[in-house]
Amino acid sequence: MPFQLREIIDRHQGQQLSLLSEYINPQMAKVLKTLGFDPVYVRGQGSHLWDVQGNDYLDMLSGFGVFAVGRSHPKVKEAIRQYLDLDSPNLVKMGTQLLAGILAQRLVDGFSLPGLDTVFFCNSGAEAVDGALKFAHVFTRRKRFLYCDHGFHGLTLGTLAINGCREFRTDYEDILAMGTAIPFGDTSRLEAELSRSDAAAFVVEPIIGHGVFIPPDDFLPRARELCTRYGTLLIADEVQTGFGRTGKLFACEHWNVVPDIMTLSKSLSGGYCPIGAILYPRKVYNKVFSSLDRCMVHSTTFSQNDLAAVCGLATLEVIREENLVENSARIGAYLVEQLKGLAQKHELIREVRGRGLMIAIEFGQPRSLTLKTGWKMIHGINQDLFCQSILVPLIMDHHILSQVSGHGKDIIKLIPPLVFNQTDADRFIKAFDQVLDSAHRFPGPIWEVGSRIAKAVLR
Ligand SMILES: Cc1ncc(COP(=O)(O)O)c(C=O)c1O
Repeated sequence: MPFQLREIIDRHQGQQLSLLSEYINPQMAKVLKTLGFDPVYVRGQGSHLWDVQGNDYLDMLSGFGVFAVGRSHPKVKEAIRQYLDLDSPNLVKMGTQLLAGILAQRLVDGFSLPGLDTVFFCNSGAEAVDGALKFAHVFTRRKRFLYCDHGFHGLTLGTLAINGCREFRTDYEDILAMGTAIPFGDTSRLEAELSRSDAAAFVVEPIIGHGVFIPPDDFLPRARELCTRYGTLLIADEVQTGFGRTGKLFACEHWNVVPDIMTLSKSLSGGYCPIGAILYPRKVYNKVFSSLDRCMVHSTTFSQNDLAAVCGLATLEVIREENLVENSARIGAYLVEQLKGLAQKHELIREVRGRGLMIAIEFGQPRSLTLKTGWKMIHGINQDLFCQSILVPLIMDHHILSQVSGHGKDIIKLIPPLVFNQTDADRFIKAFDQVLDSAHRFPGPIWEVGSRIAKAVLR
């Protein structure tokens, strides 16, 4: 009997939440249901998703940043179709892989930074950072790693040790001793730690994803200088910021900084399959893979797999052909300008910041008395409740998908696909303005959403 994917999907359509609840993550299923983030999506294209009733949702989350080229990009789809017809000799393992080799060459020649001429392929962002930590340890023979408060590099054991978001570390703190946190942007603290000359690497997101924190202009150039002086490798984690997200190909370029190692993932496969990459210099390679019998001392089974490479090759072409880095800079600047306009009107907005299409809207305690009462009440119940109360009408009434950025921060983050256009941006601004109008009426529907969520959580 032939495999009938369409028939399987049709037979189970609508069971998304119950399957998640029964077999994968019941707590997540409850959260999605409580917040109303459970539409039955049936299609995704570009910056949009459609549900089973045909409603069009604006996707400002892009699968946590993987759909830089937009969902279902025709060029990436076509590449996959062509590949499937080749019956390619994939994953020979004790043999060579042409497509991964070509992708590595493309990355080094056109999508890298000076000196980063060797590529290690893996399957995720965390795996890329984890590998980079191992490489830095072997290269320097040091055991300590510096990282930034609020920084996020993944949730494997190695990356958890350099995770600056406390909520992820709870329960594991006892086994995470190798990392030391410094405040993001604090060059004096960084120098104090580096001057002990015992840090293998300083791992940093050039712009922190959880909260979209942009460093002072001197931070990364100075970090570069200090790392060189004290023999510590500078690892730039561009898993989220890479490939145009911030309006430059890599966020490091905003400050003309070249790291010793760069980690990539998310956008590289057009969202179609897992991929991660470490870009690093040959001198580090030579220390890690130091002899014939150590040629696989760091490896993973699906490294260099054909499908990821094909998706990568097509995605890189799309990024260049469609000028997505430039679009990210242009539409991102437009969104920030429009949002700053809204901040003049809505006192709940404390700050709008961002680079390219990585944008944060941070809320703060309002001045007016009645609103302040609502603010204090909702924060008294839970630190994350206010932003959730904004996201709920955004998705339910306006069909806009977005996210709270990190825990207890009163920040909403926007990371739409880099194909986002002005019509999409105007739709978001109009909807957001209306939701905020409503939030500025206390008591009012937004605050009721907050107490409804709180009651559901308590239940
Ligand atoms: C900067 C950064 N590094 C690493 C990771 C981990 O990537 P993954 O979830 O693919 O393991 C993330 C994920 O969001 C990230 O934003």
